[in-house]
Amino acid sequence: MNKTNQKLLITGGAGFIGSHVVRRFVVNYPNYHIFNLDSLTYAGNLENLKDVEKQSNYTFIKGDITDASFIDSIFKKYNFDGVIHLAAESHVDRSITNPLAFVKTNVIGTMNLLNAAKELWKNDFTGKRFYHVSTDEVYGSLGETGFFTEDTAYDPNSPYSASKASSDHFVRAYGETYGLPYVITNCSNNYGPNHFPEKLIPFFINNIINKKSLPVYGDGNYTRDWLFVLDHAIAIDLVFHKGKNHETYNIGGFNEWKNIDLVKLLCKLMDQKLNRKEGESEKLIAYVKDRPGHDLRYAIDSNKINKELGWKPSVTFEEGLEKTIDWFLENQDWLENVTSGDYQKYYSEMYQ
Ligand code: NAD
Ligand code: TYD
Repeated sequence: MNKTNQKLLITGGAGFIGSHVVRRFVVNYPNYHIFNLDSLTYAGNLENLKDVEKQSNYTFIKGDITDASFIDSIFKKYNFDGVIHLAAESHVDRSITNPLAFVKTNVIGTMNLLNAAKELWKNDFTGKRFYHVSTDEVYGSLGETGFFTEDTAYDPNSPYSASKASSDHFVRAYGETYGLPYVITNCSNNYGPNHFPEKLIPFFINNIINKKSLPVYGDGNYTRDWLFVLDHAIAIDLVFHKGKNHETYNIGGFNEWKNIDLVKLLCKLMDQKLNRKEGESEKLIAYVKDRPGHDLRYAIDSNKINKELGWKPSVTFEEGLEKTIDWFLENQDWLENVTSGDYQKYYSEMYQ
């Protein structure tokens, strides 16, 4: 997939991971034209892309992937050569309160993109690629040991992960049934700049800044495998260009943290950055009611992408976390903008 002058559709490019992927492609591939399609839900924020919005190889399209005729029309109009599909409803807690929204965007929206790509490319799939960005959560929950590999059976537990698993299956099915050239990646939890402050790390950074309570679900002994978002963007670039069609790659940092240990580390680093007394932010920790169906542990085996494509994380967790905290402290305007609007309403409903 090293075609020059290609027209590439990236969906969900105004969101957290999508904005880093869009920037990377706009800057690194001046011969490509990057079309960013996003409906700008509460999680989409064009401020994330201010630095690239005037580039001549970049076009923003506001639109909803659940609208099949609109999706068909833009595929016909722009004649895309490739798709990197990130648009999704992405927050597990929201999927528990409104699962149908996740089926609409994550399943039906993906179907609409698959249908439009199949229709446009059906006479000649050469040089075309449908890249579906997915999550390790489709594999369900691990016990205390073991890792998710590309061969682990799907076993999703939340409406979010069930909707992502379903969309992954449809992508594979379009590959098997119609020969659509696809790749799928399943990545672990991301963190970094522009992360919407409803997810653990940015939510807690924001609350520490504002001296608000840090609601740790259950006993806090849940484990996630954290990856810096720019390393995910690098992996997506690599898989898009060098990955094999009809293959899945797991992406993760071999970087497992129990939530409570991570939160304590965050508190310590934030106390240092904010010149607060050691231990001050830890006092904000409050154990709250557990998330229903809470997955105990995620851990990715990323040996395949390492061995076949030479990818490995470029920063350690300590470096990534420090960059992230610094970004949020330097961009408190961004944080204030996103925490006003809809997020504020959601916040009060969720945590009252
Ligand atoms: P995000 O919620 O920050 O961004 C999602 C983007 O999609 C937003 O810009 C939103 O406006 C857009 N969008 C939502 N519904 C849409 C619709 N119907 N039509 C068009 N645009 C729509 O999500 P994220 O954390 O950046 O995740 C991006 C992708 O990566 C998702 O597919 C997610 O499942 C996957 N993923 C995320 C993580 C993570 O840790 N955040 C890890 C692995 C995989
Ligand atoms: P989250 O960032 O929502 O990602 P995911 O559920 O997709 O892994 O949550 C990460 C972990 O942090 C998860 O185990 C749930 C937990 N968590 C809390 O304990 N408190 C919170 O307020 C949030 C948002 C998450």
